Amino acid sequence: MENQPVITKMSARQQSEICQSCHKGSNQFFWHGGVHETRGLSCVSCHSVHAFKSEKAQLKEKTGAAPEEIVVAIETLLTKERPLAGKRALVTSGPTREAIDPVRYISNHSSGKQGHAIAAALARLGAEVTLVSGPVGVADPAGVRVVKIDSADEMLAACLKAGAVDVAVCAAAVADWKAAKPASAKIKKKPGAAPPALELAPNPDILATLSRPGPKRPVLVVGFAAETENLVANAIDKRTRKGCDWIIANDVSTAAGTFGGERNTVHLISAEGVEDWPTMAKDDVALRLAGRIALQLARPRRVVAAE
Ligand code: CTP
Repeated sequence: MENQPVITKMSARQQSEICQSCHKGSNQFFWHGGVHETRGLSCVSCHSVHAFKSEKAQLKEKTGAAPEEIVVAIETLLTKERPLAGKRALVTSGPTREAIDPVRYISNHSSGKQGHAIAAALARLGAEVTLVSGPVGVADPAGVRVVKIDSADEMLAACLKAGAVDVAVCAAAVADWKAAKPASAKIKKKPGAAPPALELAPNPDILATLSRPGPKRPVLVVGFAAETENLVANAIDKRTRKGCDWIIANDVSTAAGTFGGERNTVHLISAEGVEDWPTMAKDDVALRLAGRIALQLARPRRVVAAE
C-alpha cells in the first residue's frame, strides 16, 4: 500500500461519489495497480476498492481490468464538470445481425465508433450509461454498462429492460429487415437448383418505440440519420416520422468515409432548426453532443417531441 500513488485534494462531492458507504472524511485515495479486485481506487478509511457508481460493479467483475480503464475512471472522477451526475442515459451502437441460418446473416458496415464515443462522453460528464451494442470491434468504454446483443429484436428488448432514462441516443445502424423464417440448420446448395428465395420481415423501430409519448419516455430522445443523398431534407423528415427530439444527420456514402472512419461531419436537427457542425473526430462529436445534452437536461421545462 505504501508504494501506491495517493490521490488527494478531492472535493467533498467527489469523495462521496467514490466512497458512498464508508467514507469517513478522508481526503486521500490509493490507486491500486495490482491484480483482481485490488485494481482501482480505495479510500484510506476502509481500504476497499471504489469507483463511481456503475463502474464499481464493472471493476469488481472484470478481474483483468486494464490499467487504462482505471486511468479513465480516475480522470472521470477528477473531472470538475460532471453536469450529468444523477442522470441516466441509454445509447445504442453498432450494427445488428439478422440470422438467415446458423452460418449466414444480414448486417451493415457500422463500426460502433460514434455510438461508443457518445456513451463514453456521457459517462465522462457524469451520467450512468447503459450501452446496448451490436457486434463491434471497438473496446467497451470504461465506466459504462455494456449489454451485447446480435439482432434488432434483442436490441429492443435490452433497451426496454434498461428501464427509465433521462436521455436515449440511438446511434445503432439497425438492420431494417430480418429473415422472415431463419433456418435452424445451414441452408445447403442443391445441384442445379435456383438460389433460395429469402423472405424478409420488418424489424421493430427502436428509436420510434423509445420516442412514443408516455410517462416512460426519456426527457430527450436523440436519433441518427444515416443518409447517402438529400442528407438534411431526409433527416428532417426522419425526425418527424420517428417522433424523436433531435436527429444527428451524417453522410454515410462511401466517399464520406463515415463508416469505420475516425471523423464525422454532422448536422444537429431539432425543433429550432438545423446546426451544421464542422468535421471533427468522432470523439469530439461525442463530447460536443454530450455537452449539448447536459445543457438541454438542465433546462427546467420538459422537451417536447416533434410536432
Ligand atoms: N433505427 C432504429 N430501429 C430501426 C431502424 C433505425 O432504432 N429498426 C434508428 C437508428 O438507430 C437511427 C435512426 O433510427 O437513430 C435512423 O436510422 P436510419 O438507418 O438512418 O434510417 P431508417 O430508419 O433505416 O430509414 P431509411 O432506411 O428510410 O433511411
